[in-house]
Amino acid sequence: MSEPTILDDLKSDHEEIRLLAERLQETPDPEKRRVLFSDFKSLLIAHARAEDEVLYKPLKRTTSARLKALEGEEEHDVAEFLATRLKDDDDKGGDAWTARTQVIKEVLDHHMDEEETEIFQAARDIFGEDRLVAMGAQFRELKEDHLRRQV
Ligand SMILES: [Fe+2]
Ligand SMILES: [Fe+2]
Repeated sequence: MSEPTILDDLKSDHEEIRLLAERLQETPDPEKRRVLFSDFKSLLIAHARAEDEVLYKPLKRTTSARLKALEGEEEHDVAEFLATRLKDDDDKGGDAWTARTQVIKEVLDHHMDEEETEIFQAARDIFGEDRLVAMGAQFRELKEDHLRRQV
């Protein structure tokens, strides 16, 4: 079996982020929402920061994928801003919270779908298999660093 590449790591994080976003919406209990949200936000930020550094940074240096990478980074900023608004919203049982989780879920669904199609294809075209494997190791290490710092 071939070694996992960064694309495998990203895909499995995306699955987890999608699941957490769904559970955030479906969980009515404010205390459970608070705990779920903390897991969701930590993973989202660690994932996005490591992705910026390991994947988007080299893609921005190319001519073919530069704009797509800049667009992705911009969406990271939007998602982080929305997550901060959710964090600041103390009424985790209220309708405003539910509406905000819906918006962040829509933004992330769009973002991750684009990554898994256009960005993944660009990465496959531009970097070889060995480089994608090495990027995976780098991504995991950076993500763990970010997760540790957020605790
Ligand atoms: Fe991602
Ligand atoms: Fe992303």
